[in-house]
Amino acid sequence: MGNQDFKQLLGTDLPIIQAPMAGVQGSALAVAVSEAGGLGSLPCAMLSPEQLIAEINRIKAATAKPVNFNFFCHEMPAFDEKKQAAWQVRLKPYFDELDIDSDSLPAGASRTPFNPTTADLLEAYKPEIISFHFGLPNKELMARIKGWGTKIISTATTLKEALWLEAKGVDAIIAQGLEAGGHRGMFLSADITTQVGLAALVPQIVSQVKVPVIAAGGLADAKGVQAALLLGATAVQVGTAYLLCNEANTSQLHRAALKSTQAEHTALTTIFTGKPARGIVNRAIKELGYISKEAPAFPYASIEMGKLRAAAEKNNSAEFSSLWSGQNPSGCKEISASELTKQLAGF
Ligand SMILES: Cc1cc2nc3c(=O)[nH]c(=O)nc-3n(C[C@H](O)[C@H](O)[C@H](O)COP(=O)(O)O)c2cc1C
Repeated sequence: MGNQDFKQLLGTDLPIIQAPMAGVQGSALAVAVSEAGGLGSLPCAMLSPEQLIAEINRIKAATAKPVNFNFFCHEMPAFDEKKQAAWQVRLKPYFDELDIDSDSLPAGASRTPFNPTTADLLEAYKPEIISFHFGLPNKELMARIKGWGTKIISTATTLKEALWLEAKGVDAIIAQGLEAGGHRGMFLSADITTQVGLAALVPQIVSQVKVPVIAAGGLADAKGVQAALLLGATAVQVGTAYLLCNEANTSQLHRAALKSTQAEHTALTTIFTGKPARGIVNRAIKELGYISKEAPAFPYASIEMGKLRAAAEKNNSAEFSSLWSGQNPSGCKEISASELTKQLAGF
């Protein structure tokens, strides 16, 4: 598939996908990007069934253009009480400092993988495209989604993952370079030393798979987009650059960090959720140790960290917030998503 074939894949005028970004955006950003000719994405990983239905209805009412629905596909590990208790002991000084009662912790973590109930909810809507992070759902669910005529795409962070996804029948592969903000989509290995930068990853995947490749990670302007297409990508997926857009729900504290020199230092950390994700370095990351062996498995580490975040944010502090960002915040602009999409496409 050549550079001009994104239309066939995405059904859009422009080869630009707005990356789904759970927690910082909803249908408003997705609709704005799709209406501008790119592919808007709705992050569904943290939505309840009721919220998902409400967002589907908003999208249906606002645009007839394709929109991508994004889900996580992680294996849900058993809740490890011992590990969680040790994590609570580790975080106790911060709970004391922020005056939080640890008995008030929520019962569970808020990220559930794609499952048959999700498929039931989507069935009536039949999205044009569904993207997955952390692998793929099982064979039966894949067949069900394909039966709707929906295209399935998923993230690879290594050549091995790309070959695995192709063998399972995806329609396209998102090559997520190490520069990317948010969670690493890695699913075949938990070893972060396997992770590869975008300029190394895209050509390797393009040369070994037949399906189209979408480049993601550190792309922030039209030149970056062109470079990714030159490397053989059919389209790009851009996240961080959209974080300051008018239609994003990015918090004021997150926006302030992105606009400051603090955004020059991002790192991979497991402390917020249990899986490695790239965010702006703050006190929590530094003191709890980036890739922490103490953090419970995804998504359970987030139970306590969510409490710390809420309490600190009440004091106007982002020192316990997951400030997801990629390594290149230079494209973040306080403009409409429509304008940014056009700029990324070179208009
Ligand atoms: C704030 C934020 C939240 C993200 N949340 C998700 C998500 O919910 N699902 C997903 O597939 N990718 C998510 N990602 C990763 C993006 O899909 C993509 O890989 C990344 O944004 C590309 O790199 P860039 O941020 O440098 O543009 C997120 C990224 C950011 C910055």
